Amino acid sequence: MPKKTIAAVDVSGKRVLLRVDFNVPLDGDRITDDRRIQAAIPTIRNVIDRGGKAILISHLGRPEGNGYETTSSLKPCAERLSALLAKPVGFPSTNCIDEHAAAAVASMQNGEVILLENLRHHKGEKKGDPAFAAKLAEYADVYVNDAFGACHRPDASMVALPQAMAGRPRVSGLLLEKEIRFLSEALSAPKKPFVVVLGGAKVSDKMAAIENLLPKADAILVGGAMAYTFLKAMGKNVGTSKTEDDRLADARRMIEAAAKAKCDMHLPSDHVCSTAFSQSAGNIEVFEEHIKPGFMGLDIGPKTQMAFTQVLLGARTIVWNGPMGVFEWMPFSIGTKSVAKAIAEATASGAVSIVGGGDSAAAVEKFGLADKMTHVSTGGGASIEMLEGKAFESMNLLDNA
Ligand code: 3PG
Repeated sequence: MPKKTIAAVDVSGKRVLLRVDFNVPLDGDRITDDRRIQAAIPTIRNVIDRGGKAILISHLGRPEGNGYETTSSLKPCAERLSALLAKPVGFPSTNCIDEHAAAAVASMQNGEVILLENLRHHKGEKKGDPAFAAKLAEYADVYVNDAFGACHRPDASMVALPQAMAGRPRVSGLLLEKEIRFLSEALSAPKKPFVVVLGGAKVSDKMAAIENLLPKADAILVGGAMAYTFLKAMGKNVGTSKTEDDRLADARRMIEAAAKAKCDMHLPSDHVCSTAFSQSAGNIEVFEEHIKPGFMGLDIGPKTQMAFTQVLLGARTIVWNGPMGVFEWMPFSIGTKSVAKAIAEATASGAVSIVGGGDSAAAVEKFGLADKMTHVSTGGGASIEMLEGKAFESMNLLDNA
């Protein structure tokens, strides 16, 4: 069911409580990737350009909820947002629900923006506490969820807060609307052939997604360390590659399920391996079928890169989640880069491509290919759970269009 968006609400003179996901990576107080802040700009502008008062709330990191901590302060985000909007962004207090925060909200003028301090400095946020949510609800006439990355969380600001604001407009932001549109359209009515690329460290993280996607996808390409659990389950020598030995039976079950569903499951047929988990130490060699003892697979090999590229170039819908190797290290980045390039090429020829957040989003950024994809999600865990077919209470609570 499509959700009503902020664009359909008259916000002039209204206090708009905007839940964003500013959970950005930090190096000290320096933001190393501001994609999530940039992605929130259209909704913020939509509110302030129509005379609304934008009161932003977010979490950052995973503090325990024992009060203010400098290391998880949202202050760097307020500064970055101010630079991106080219206007002041208020950051009134070290506590999102104290009297200073309340006073700052009360004195806002139309078109102004403030960001309140990290919600997770309060235990009530993770606990989904209605009393904490009720305090936040006092600030606002309208609730907006634009925090796709946090939609799978039952935190107070995601669930108890819209519940506390029943009777007032509770709508989707423009980023959330876009994320739902791309991910749910790709999953409910994909143009065929529909190809899913899955990678990353653990098969256990992707098992539910594979199970949900097998009946819909024409092909699933598996790379990253998770491929080695599959290959080991098939009796291949995987050397010292990372495997999840308690998942071998599940891996075998998936391979059988893929065959039954007539979904081509492609596993790597060659591997870039090293004797050390390091970008500078160890001997690097490429192995086909079986990996020599003492070596671990750290990237898909050249034959696999070509095979995956062939499949991707024929696709009309592509969903990608998880890198093909340790792409952060140059010697093991080629597999992920080749997949990113193939998806970019397929997109240029008319395919719809959706890149799940987290590492694959970081990879397309690193390779300068993010703007060649149809959509790069801002969600990590949230996009995986959507691939698993899960529904989120945070979204269900929003008004329907
Ligand atoms: C994310 O980075 O995936 C979201 O911001 C959610 O953060 P969390 O996993 O700490 O709840």
